[in-house]
Amino acid sequence: MGRHLAPVPGAAADTVTGMDTAAVYAQFAGSQALNGDSPTYQDWALGVAADPQVCALLDTLPAPKRQPNLLFAAARLAGAPSGGWAGLRPWLLAAWPDVEREMRARATQTNEPRRCATLLPTLATIDGPIALVEVGASAGLCLYPDRYSYEYASPDGGRTRLDPADGPSEVLLPCAIEGPVPTRMPDVVWRAGIDLNPLDVRDPGDLAWLEALVWPEHTDRVETLRAAARVVAAEPPRLVTGDLLAGLADLVAAAPAEATVVVQNSAVLYYLTPPELAAFTATMGDLRRTRGVVWLSNEGWTVLPDVAARLPEGLSPQFILARDGEPLALTDPHGRSLRLL
Ligand SMILES: C[S@@+](CC[C@H](N)C(=O)[O-])C[C@H]1O[C@@H](n2cnc3c(N)ncnc32)[C@H](O)[C@@H]1O
Repeated sequence: MGRHLAPVPGAAADTVTGMDTAAVYAQFAGSQALNGDSPTYQDWALGVAADPQVCALLDTLPAPKRQPNLLFAAARLAGAPSGGWAGLRPWLLAAWPDVEREMRARATQTNEPRRCATLLPTLATIDGPIALVEVGASAGLCLYPDRYSYEYASPDGGRTRLDPADGPSEVLLPCAIEGPVPTRMPDVVWRAGIDLNPLDVRDPGDLAWLEALVWPEHTDRVETLRAAARVVAAEPPRLVTGDLLAGLADLVAAAPAEATVVVQNSAVLYYLTPPELAAFTATMGDLRRTRGVVWLSNEGWTVLPDVAARLPEGLSPQFILARDGEPLALTDPHGRSLRLL
């Protein structure tokens, strides 16, 4: 089948992006090609973009449910064959009712424990005891930075390993680092998260969904996810169901009074509308003033324009790690590297 990317006649446009479904998939394929993230998803996305029949099926869903990551993860959860679009297409048309059901029931909420490696150097500078609160926690895998082992690789070839207080963890997070290497683990005494739809790693269905959300070529990430899930399952976190705007203050109030409360968010704030983002930033300001909360934010560089504006000129970051609104480091979105500023 040819891979022409012309808009599908009569296709429904996403009222937020203004793009029709074919254009959304073509853009996604372009981003995969640019980053080299998943050749499989790039191929699948090009296939969908050029396929009016599949786009028409997607257009029966509400716009937020048509996104490539959701379709592809739902298809893999429902048993999609690995390999190229030519094999996926007939399977997808036959299995559409199953795939559609998963897409309607689920949301993209990838939980990437490796992001703890980019958080740790800053967390380690905060005197404990720490009460760690995560907004948009998914299954809470980023609430356990003190339970994982790390291996930081410096540009000069040096390697620094850090282990939890009670010995090496079965989760080893490798991370390339430019800048000071952490020398101690944070003292986390309390942890809690809030999410619109918290996932439970003890539930096989939730764990299978978390695995399906990892791009197919990233087998190392799946191994890390499974190991982190075992750590978390052994000591499940307190995860509250709710909107971060409504529930954050109560969660902070529940933290032990003697602890420094650190609120972290990673790969979450892009879900918010501009007014919601402004409200969240204002809430963080209030919590800093009234409770001495420390705010650690790790988000795509376009998400918090005020933070990006404070970066030195000439940098082209993917994610920015910021403390209380001040940029501290440029980070890889999946936690593979960080460059401290
Ligand atoms: C991409 S996941 C990131 C999970 C985790 N922070 C990490 O870095 O691995 C984003 C999570 O934010 C949650 N989320 C999005 N908007 C939210 C809101 N308004 N309130 C609470 N959670 C939200 C989603 O349900 C999802 O689980």
